[in-house]
Amino acid sequence: MDSFVKMVERRELKIGVIGLGYVGLPLAMEFASAGFDVVGFEISESKIERINRGENYIKDVDNDKLARFVESGKLTATSDFSRITDCNAISVCVPTPLSKMQEPDISYILSATSEIAKYLSPGTLVVLESTTYPGTTDEILLPALSQNGRKVGVDFFLAFSPERVDPGNDKFFTRNTPKVIGGVTEECRKRAVYLYTQVISEIVQVSSTTAAEMVKLVENTFRAVNIASVNEIALICHKLGLDVWEIIDAAATKPFGFVPFYPGPGLGGHCIPIDPLYLSWKMKSLDFHTQFIELASEINRGMPLWVVSRVEGLLNKCLKNITGSTILVLGVAYKRNIDDVRESPALEVIKHLRSLGANVCYHDPYIPSCIIGKFENDETELSSQELTQELLNSADVVVCTTDHDDFDWSFILEHANRVFDARNATKGFESDKIERL
Ligand SMILES: NC(=O)c1ccc[n+]([C@@H]2O[C@H](COP(=O)([O-])OP(=O)(O)OC[C@H]3O[C@@H](n4cnc5c(N)ncnc54)[C@H](O)[C@@H]3O)[C@@H](O)[C@H]2O)c1
Repeated sequence: MDSFVKMVERRELKIGVIGLGYVGLPLAMEFASAGFDVVGFEISESKIERINRGENYIKDVDNDKLARFVESGKLTATSDFSRITDCNAISVCVPTPLSKMQEPDISYILSATSEIAKYLSPGTLVVLESTTYPGTTDEILLPALSQNGRKVGVDFFLAFSPERVDPGNDKFFTRNTPKVIGGVTEECRKRAVYLYTQVISEIVQVSSTTAAEMVKLVENTFRAVNIASVNEIALICHKLGLDVWEIIDAAATKPFGFVPFYPGPGLGGHCIPIDPLYLSWKMKSLDFHTQFIELASEINRGMPLWVVSRVEGLLNKCLKNITGSTILVLGVAYKRNIDDVRESPALEVIKHLRSLGANVCYHDPYIPSCIIGKFENDETELSSQELTQELLNSADVVVCTTDHDDFDWSFILEHANRVFDARNATKGFESDKIERL
């Protein structure tokens, strides 16, 4: 440990970050900011080229800072995994999506692990950050890295530390979001804690890698279940002729025992719709049925269709058919003020509207173009349309699926015929053109 501490203090430790996406690039930037030399390992040639040109592609990362780090040689990107040999600490930030059958797809973790196992130098600390099911670090990484007689806690060090970054959050970033760390051995944990203390303001230590993996899944299951619960409340309120947004705002005035969650067109992003299913998959292997997760997933996945049925109802009220209607969707990113469409419920809404024969276009200042279907047959690519008076006026219904701050609601309401607002983006506006979720 002493020599590790000295290397960290003298900034002689070389850091490798595998996967330079929404999680990996901000982390690599934090290490470079703290004075470490960082090598980013990527499989996307275009990302490698952009980084090495000093060009940023993640909204939360500072362009000038990135260019400076690249120019000074503090940060480089490569697809040459043999350079892992030069690294003394490696953080793995690769994707963990679901397969077509809605099961964990850990193929990215497997391929990153096999590269690390090939090129690992003695004494290297490996930290898995990708969200995954409890047991992954011990069951997958540990045996792979222990090949050739390498002993964990002696010849290499292994820990799990979930990433909690919230893209688009202007208050909490990688640096000031407390970081949970669990090690395979005490020495593994201590080394990981010491290293991350250099770049993260608060570290939370837990007893094992499995505990750290579980913490992340509990956080995101908590969100998925509570969002499902309030989505069901939204349906209940609609049946009762009540405004769910008014009800939540009033309930949230209770100073204890109530945490407000808000309904919407469904879950999106690379985390909340996916992570709980990693846990339920793991529990199936232990013959345990995770009822809350399954139910929450079912309710949340039903929300895009609910939005479509409400749009249909809105058209029916003015004696219009959804087939042949023109629908303008506002916001296709999975949440406000970000440029990420992964698992976005807006795409589901568009897909269903199109399958019913509606002509759908969209406007999103953050998403210039997007492909509608994922596994389904609809591979159509749509491009964001300029939000003009004519565009608004040509739509039978304007559907707000993402409440970006850029939307000028006075302008939209002046020129739109009807608005279905699935996010309460029109809060404070009174108009008989508006119908809310
Ligand atoms: N995006 C978030 O908000 C967020 C928040 C917390 C945790 N996470 C978790 O962090 C992990 C990464 O998510 P992300 O959003 O950064 O994904 P991302 O898709 O933005 O980035 C992952 C990067 O890894 C690269 N990659 C894939 N396989 C690789 C390999 N074998 N070697 C090198 N690079 C490889 C991809 O090209 C991509 O650039 C996931 O497990 C996710 O669940 C994400």
